[in-house]
Amino acid sequence: MGIQITPSILNADLSRLADEVARIPSADWVHVDVMDNHFVPNLTLGLPVVEALARHASQPLDAHLMIEDADRWAPAYAEAGCGSVTFHAEAARAPVRLAREIRAQGARASMALKPATPIEPYEALLPELDMVLLMTVEPGFGGQKFLDLCLPKIRTARELMRKHGVETWLQVDGGISLETIERCAEAGADVFVAGSAVYSADDPDAMVSALREKAEKARV
Ligand code: DX5
Ligand code: ZN
Repeated sequence: MGIQITPSILNADLSRLADEVARIPSADWVHVDVMDNHFVPNLTLGLPVVEALARHASQPLDAHLMIEDADRWAPAYAEAGCGSVTFHAEAARAPVRLAREIRAQGARASMALKPATPIEPYEALLPELDMVLLMTVEPGFGGQKFLDLCLPKIRTARELMRKHGVETWLQVDGGISLETIERCAEAGADVFVAGSAVYSADDPDAMVSALREKAEKARV
């Protein structure tokens, strides 16, 4: 699989979601940030809105669940039509069971790690996952500054995936822009979330292409 760009709609005009998604036709996925004001100090949208958007978006939805009690809620996002469902390792009580439940609903199963959560304890889980999401800011808000301290973890995650011979995608999320995407691609990321970089651009779809081009050139 080549480089994929998954714009986050967190910084889009949330009163016009379907229109905002239609502005990024070349995006591979649409990244939807679900926040519950418990796992993170912000509240965004939930299952009914995601269900509605799944019916109207031409790209598949990539749900990023920043919620407590992921075990209870995550499979419903797969059932709602999301093509990929990401739960946080810090919020899942039984991540193996949860990943299997998501896959059983026909979606890709993905697990996210906050910046201070190491990847090594989850090495044995890699074959159960279709994607690992490494946060490159503290989750909760768009428009934050990229944390360079996450780069060694991107490299480690890619090495572990190679060691296990798995085809797991490696997504980075937070502060991704024309300025930071190359160092993430060089470190081994292949799926890039970009929120403010895309939706603050005059032409969001042109920004998706520009980000893709930079990542493709820098890819290891
Ligand atoms: C932050 C969210 C991100 C956010 C990214 O907690 O998970 O997806 O929308 O926004 P930018 O690209 O502006 O950092
Ligand atoms: Zn996100």
